[in-house]
Amino acid sequence: MSYENILTRVDGRVGVVQINRPKALNALNSPTMSELTTALAEFDADDTIGCMVVTGNDRAFAAGADIKQMATAGLVDMMNSDFIGYWDKLKAITKPIIAIISGFALGGGNELAMACDMMLASETAQFGQPEINLGIIPGAGGTQRLTLAVGKAIAMDMCLNDRRLSAAEALQFGLVSRVFPKEVYMDESMKIAHEIANRAPVAIRAAKEAVNMIFEVNLASGVAHERTLFYSLFATADQKEGMDAFINKRAADWQGK
Ligand code: CAA
Repeated sequence: MSYENILTRVDGRVGVVQINRPKALNALNSPTMSELTTALAEFDADDTIGCMVVTGNDRAFAAGADIKQMATAGLVDMMNSDFIGYWDKLKAITKPIIAIISGFALGGGNELAMACDMMLASETAQFGQPEINLGIIPGAGGTQRLTLAVGKAIAMDMCLNDRRLSAAEALQFGLVSRVFPKEVYMDESMKIAHEIANRAPVAIRAAKEAVNMIFEVNLASGVAHERTLFYSLFATADQKEGMDAFINKRAADWQGK
């Protein structure tokens, strides 16, 4: 299949999906998420693939959900489109998915990485949930998966006050499992993907499912509640103001309504 917003390739037993909207810092709009999840499902169904990689480019893994797509959306638009439902589709993938991150992993970009099974990073990676700047909150599992990964203290700092984590901090706080120098991050990360791809396939699937189970038991209701809150913020003037301010490169004037 040919795609407009992603590039795909097969390297040995590893299926690679590269988000390819560099001018928008790989912002995740519906077509991109649709293509990404379709490509992952195709790799998942292919017996010659043992492991998948989701990556971006050196500057950005993904700078978030596409603000320009959401800027004028209302509550009903967001609920009807179920835009965030794309992030859930990763849960149906049975083989391991590794996020290889360089540069920005912000908002829905960090949430996409956290929805993968492992996060490997370049030393240049930067992680954040900056939604508060737009008058909204993380909506694709961020408040839940981030808190499980880094703990309440750091998660609150990130969600309430846009604290960004460097790659070294992300490693220290348990958000990523390995950090590599920028010159070699892709090669080193792909080595790990190849190792996993060549391990016992049935046991690999079982290990992925078992580890993720600890998150899913409590995660499902948290993610559902988060989504209701996220969509409801599209009924506020502050969301319109925050996104318009971003697009027009000005400071937001919050009204609290
Ligand atoms: N959506 C749409 N477009 C985006 C984008 C996004 N999330 N992030 C960046 N872009 C676009 C910019 O609008 C800009 O486009 P133009 O050239 O047409 O103006 C282009 O990408 C390059 O961006 P900048 O000029 O802003 O680059 P910079 O180096 O000065 O700043 C940045 C980089 C700090 C990442 C900045 O772009 C930024 O703050 N982006 C927004 C990050 C953000 O708020 N993410 C959360 C989105 S909401 C979300 O994800 C909800 C959810 O939980 C699902």
